[in-house]
Amino acid sequence: MTEVEETENRMIAKPRKAVFPAAGLGTRFLPATKAMPKEMLPLVDKPLIQYGVEEALHSGMSNIIIVTGRGKSAIEDHFDVSFELEHLLEARQKKELLHQVRSISDMIDVSYVRQKEALGLGHAVLRAKELVGNEPFAVVLSDDVIDAEIPCLRQMSDIYEFYGASVVALMEVPPESISNYGVVDAEPIDHQGVSGRLFRIRNMVEKPKREDAPSNLAIVGRYILTPEIFSSIESIEPGKGGEIQLTDALKHLLRSRPIYGFKFEGKRFDAGDKLGFLQATVELALKRYDLGAAFREYLKKLPL
Ligand code: G1P
Repeated sequence: MTEVEETENRMIAKPRKAVFPAAGLGTRFLPATKAMPKEMLPLVDKPLIQYGVEEALHSGMSNIIIVTGRGKSAIEDHFDVSFELEHLLEARQKKELLHQVRSISDMIDVSYVRQKEALGLGHAVLRAKELVGNEPFAVVLSDDVIDAEIPCLRQMSDIYEFYGASVVALMEVPPESISNYGVVDAEPIDHQGVSGRLFRIRNMVEKPKREDAPSNLAIVGRYILTPEIFSSIESIEPGKGGEIQLTDALKHLLRSRPIYGFKFEGKRFDAGDKLGFLQATVELALKRYDLGAAFREYLKKLPL
């Protein structure tokens, strides 16, 4: 391989690493999150973060980097081997449960890095710089649970491989909630004969006022980023809320690199919000082979 070919090859290598910022305080979910990380809140029977981790695994990213803070040791324990529990399940011949518990710690390679102060999403991502190195990587916000036939990160990884540029997940949101999101100004482009899904981003703004929003296209918590994002994060000043914002770093990166936005196929739940969490619980429970039918019967009988 020539040097040029090698460089091109490296540029479009599939992302293998996924960064999970998990140092936030979870104030939207108090008091449940007073002593428990919000990433450990269970949707049916799995903690929120595990949905994101499984999505990453099913998208070819087996190297998981979790950015944690104080009081988050339950996350580390969850992905660690639990000898006592495995021993008990083995002794009681609970094969299916044993398999489930083992598969959590077997399948993945997890590293942890600390974010000592919650200084913003951009700051959290920057903490993973050394572990990511010089390769493309995903960022997953585990509050955003995405139910999709093809995992959202896989859909985005395919776009990344095609264009060799950063990709953010997009979703249309109504005007009354647009100011909760990073919002893009973007031009639609055709991708392999499909229109209306892929966008080339012109500009973006973190949590604009409703009247200042450049569009109804909001960024949701899935990103595929090239490693240049780290120097962009290092170059920017604190933004909205006095925090180092990932959206501001992406805007900085836009000066030198194209960034794409992708309206993924699938349903996103904002599980960091109480109503969104309840909706996710109901819909995911209804889809479960072992619970769905009985739960549907129960719901039908409620005097709604
Ligand atoms: C973060 C990002 C925002 C994005 C959102 C998606 O905000 O800063 O740009 O739209 O996630 O969930 P947060 O919800 O952490 O305040």
